[in-house]
Formats: sequence, C-alpha cells, structure tokens
Amino acid sequence: MWHAVMPAGSRVRPKLSLAVALACGDPCPEAADAAAAAIELIHCASLVHDDLPCFDDAAVRRGRPSVHAAYGERLAVLAGDALIIMAFECVATGAAPAPDRMAALIQIIAAASGGARGITAGQAWECEPRVDVSAYHRLKTGELFAAATAAGAAAAGENPKVWRLLGDRLGEAYQIADDLRDVLGKESEMGKPAGRDADLGRPTAVCELGVDGAVARVRHLIDGAIQSIPPCAGAAELRALVLEQARRVVPRELTLVAA
Ligand code: IPE
Ligand code: IPE
Ligand code: MG
Ligand code: MG
Repeated sequence: MWHAVMPAGSRVRPKLSLAVALACGDPCPEAADAAAAAIELIHCASLVHDDLPCFDDAAVRRGRPSVHAAYGERLAVLAGDALIIMAFECVATGAAPAPDRMAALIQIIAAASGGARGITAGQAWECEPRVDVSAYHRLKTGELFAAATAAGAAAAGENPKVWRLLGDRLGEAYQIADDLRDVLGKESEMGKPAGRDADLGRPTAVCELGVDGAVARVRHLIDGAIQSIPPCAGAAELRALVLEQARRVVPRELTLVAA
C-alpha cells in the first residue's frame, strides 16, 4: 500500500480539491484535507488495479516497478482493495470535526469510484466491443476530478453540484493529454510505459481525433472548465491556478506538434 502511494505522483486531484475548498473560503480545513487525501488514495488504488496483467499489464509506474511487479498480483489486488477502504476510513476519522459534512463527502467519493458512474464503470467500458471514448474518459478519469471539485466545495459547506462541471472538464482534458503522451512520450520521461494504448487496442482520443484534434479538444475543455468556475471569493486565484496547471498538462511539445 505504501509503494502505491509513495513517492508522490502528480497529486493533481487533491491539489484541485484543496484549491476549490480554498476558493470557497475553506472554513473547515480538516474536512477538506480528509476528502483530498481520500481522493488520492482512491486514485492510487485505481492505478494499482489498472496496471495488473488483466488490465494494462504495466510493469512500471511512477518510474519504478508497479505494485504487482514488485509484490505479485495477489498482493496488488489486496493493496488496491485496502487503499479503497482506507480512503473511507480517512474521511471518517479526518472529517470527524465536521460531522455535518461527512455524509456528503462519502457519497461524492463513493459515487466517483463505483460501478454506476465511477472509475469502476469507466474501466468496465474496456470490456465492451464498442466504446464512446468521451463517456469512457469521463467515467474512468473525469468522475474523480469532478469528485475532487465537488468534495472541495462540500467540505467548505458550499453546494457541490455547481462545482462538478469544472472537475468533469478538467478530468476529460487530463485523460486526453494522457492519451497524447502515450503516443508521443517516452517511458523515461513519464515513469510509465509508452505506447501501451496502441499495444492493447484501447479506444483513445488520439485514435478518434488525431493528434491535432486531441490537442484542440484539450484546449476547448480547459477553456470550458475555466468558464464553469462558479462565483466565489477566490475565483480569480482559482482561474490562474487552473491555467498554470493546464500549461503543464499540455506540454509545449504537444502544442508545437499541433501548430
Ligand atoms: C494517471 O494519472 C492516470 C490517468 C487518469 C491519466 P496521473 O497522471 O495523475 O498519475 P500520477 O498520480 O501522477 O502517477
Ligand atoms: C487511467 O487510464 C486509468 C485509471 C482511471 C485507473 P490509463 O490506463 O490510460 O492510465 P495510465 O496511462 O495507465 O496511467
Ligand atoms: Mg488503463
Ligand atoms: Mg493504464
């Protein structure tokens, strides 16, 4: 479980969640911290399971052996399961000072992880003969980003529903950028195998839109994400942060390829 969580990856989801809580005034940082940590634990669990031989069969993650490569498949399945459970334990203990917010946080994080409209449902699309790539991306990646923005707002006592669109758009953009990197990147730079999507015949934004089309779609989604930031005390700072992070997610070399 430690191997799956440390050292850190991008930590983009908890950063986003905390940034939204801050933009909403962050009156209850314990609840915001607990939700952000839980979301990262769910993400790390999803990577452990995603790398298993029955999914993407990836031996490298964050620049070192993936959990199953280091400890075997059985412990990787169990570590992923246990991280998911730990996420909810984390909300239960960390958000204890804010019991009025806990139910909403648990509901948001559970829905984003589950089989109706969460990561589980998204990964299950890979077992279908035909896939709507945007729906697949929005479930396997977008929902956890939407949970990050919604949970940040809920932890601050704001309406989580109006914050979902920001996460939904950022998550889809993030996954398309990941598809682009899978085609254009190198394992030594990414810390995970390149070319895996093509090897596995995965449906990707690059297959559907081409490189230029995928870059254009990322830009369109980021613009839409910024426009969807609800009115709040820290809206200007949040807009600046999203733009700065977006520049890192769509690296210059991708922009040049599309130019
Ligand atoms: C990888 O996510 C899986 C995707 C949804 C693209 P990250 O790129 O955030 O992975 P880490 O946490 O930085 O390793
Ligand atoms: C994201 O998809 C996986 C999860 C949502 C768990 P990918 O399979 O494209 O992510 P990477 O490339 O392995 O990080
Ligand atoms: Mg995958
Ligand atoms: Mg994968």
